[in-house]
Amino acid sequence: MNVESRHLERTLSDPMHKEFPRDASRPSCAASIEPLSHASMCGLERFHCFAPRVEVGWRCLRTLIRMRLLRILSPALLLALAACSGDGDTPSTPSDPVRTSHNAGRDCLQCHSFSLAGTVYRDDGGVYPGAVVRLTTRPGGGSDVVASVTADASGNFYTSEPVSWGDGLYTDVQGIGARRLMEAPVTGGDCNSCHAAQDRIRAD
Ligand code: HEC
Ligand code: HEC
Repeated sequence: MNVESRHLERTLSDPMHKEFPRDASRPSCAASIEPLSHASMCGLERFHCFAPRVEVGWRCLRTLIRMRLLRILSPALLLALAACSGDGDTPSTPSDPVRTSHNAGRDCLQCHSFSLAGTVYRDDGGVYPGAVVRLTTRPGGGSDVVASVTADASGNFYTSEPVSWGDGLYTDVQGIGARRLMEAPVTGGDCNSCHAAQDRIRAD
């Protein structure tokens, strides 16, 4: 393949080229297959083959601006999208044992606006569907339960019901065995933010 045809191939596969189709109604264009580069188009040369100078110049400029801006903005847009997209998809109904969910063990509130969420594990490292997580006003509280959610089939528990944390609430988890209590009070529902990797929430 010689330089000429490589250049032609590249030009034809270039998105810019599609924006500037040859005007076949002009005889000199129909006859010529001479490839055009961005530089020559944007340098306002060889316009006899294309739409009138002003229009092409404007479209050329617009395309360049768009491409430049997109290239600069796209990482920011992607980040914003990644950061926000979860929010719209946060389910309003709490976790329930017959449904599955994703990202077990990850910090759910990075992407969702749950009031309380996390993952319960078994001692053997597997997840614990059906474990019950409670928030109470007193440690291991009986009647003063503020919230109670059941881990779903993926071991994840979550709810969007508002919780008033006040000076702090107590939390406990129960599987089929004894209830495990967290001694320190919690002031937010982002359980997996602390209970990561080696420090999982476990139930018996
Ligand atoms: C990195 C961002 C991110 C993290 C972390 C994350 N999610 Fe999601 N979640 C999403 C997005 C985006 C969707 C919507 C698209 C989808 O289903 O993947 C979603 C959807 C969901 C849904 C709705 C699924 C359905 O079928 O209706 C649930 C429930 C859910 N997430 C729970 C959780 C839980 C619980 C955690 C933590 C263990 C978590 N997510 C962690 C981004 C995330
Ligand atoms: C600020 C970090 C932090 C947050 C947030 C947090 N925990 Fe804890 N959790 C700990 C620490 C540290 C311990 C061990 C000391 C203690 O019990 O206070 C613990 C202990 C526990 C225990 C007892 C562990 C065992 O095996 O006996 C359970 C159950 C528990 N947490 C559940 C939760 C739940 C549910 C949430 C979310 C409402 C939560 N934790 C939020 C740090 C945190």
